[in-house]
Amino acid sequence: MRNINRDTITDAVVRSFAGIEDERSRLLISRLVTHLHAYARDVHLTPDEWRFAIDFLYRTGRKSDAGRNEFILASDVLGLSSLVDMLETGAGSTERSALGPFHAPDSPALAVGGDLARGNDGEKLLVRGRVLDPTGKPVAGAKLDYWQAAANGLYWQQDAAQDQNNLRCTMAADESGHYAFTTVRPAPYEVPCDGPVGELLRAAKRHAWRPAHLHFIVSAPSYRPLTTELFFADDEHLDADAVFGVREALVVPVKSSTAESDAARYRLPEPFSLVEFDFRLERGERKIGA
Ligand SMILES: [Fe+2]
Repeated sequence: MRNINRDTITDAVVRSFAGIEDERSRLLISRLVTHLHAYARDVHLTPDEWRFAIDFLYRTGRKSDAGRNEFILASDVLGLSSLVDMLETGAGSTERSALGPFHAPDSPALAVGGDLARGNDGEKLLVRGRVLDPTGKPVAGAKLDYWQAAANGLYWQQDAAQDQNNLRCTMAADESGHYAFTTVRPAPYEVPCDGPVGELLRAAKRHAWRPAHLHFIVSAPSYRPLTTELFFADDEHLDADAVFGVREALVVPVKSSTAESDAARYRLPEPFSLVEFDFRLERGERKIGA
């Protein structure tokens, strides 16, 4: 490699990874090298610009911790997360949408029909629906991993007044694939702007608003896990999501219900707000990163 030059370096680097045994992993690395090099050639990347980019990544890592992932936020505002979601969405399944930076593992279990609102202020909301397979049959016992921001637009990681299990849960759907819980309606919020991603948004004069949303990961054995979000049809930020996560099929109307049976069962005021959505899973196995 003594005579490596700008014309030969890309092929040489790609060949250097030929020993990766897994075919898919080898493809991912070799194409990453090819596209990174093409980018550097395209823009004639300077050493100062390269150092700036490395520092941006370094600071992105420094800003991340167990409760917040600045890398995911960077991927989100670059539209990469949504593109990956779109590439992965199967024809018969619910559309995928952003995981976001605030998912945390090990949420406490909540029974179907349980209450997440507890001491939270805000508009009470009943969220319910079913988990279905591609033929419309219920997926009994499907697991839902759920999290949301509070009515002040903040997740527990951002708000010292919330305990770490606030407004998040796991739920096993019942034998008919039904899930249901009461909560408070979350507010639209601005993605965190106190890190390098915030600098990027400000440089572009981009706003940081996301429409209010409910986060779900829905999974069951022999089905592909589904990471998605639900949005409210009356939200003013639907057409300008800072992370490109809104899909028409994930926008649900907020109904006003006066069903006495629900009001009594869930101890809701009348009328109360109701969001209903059925998730559709596709068959398959979990993939790396899914
Ligand atoms: Fe979110």
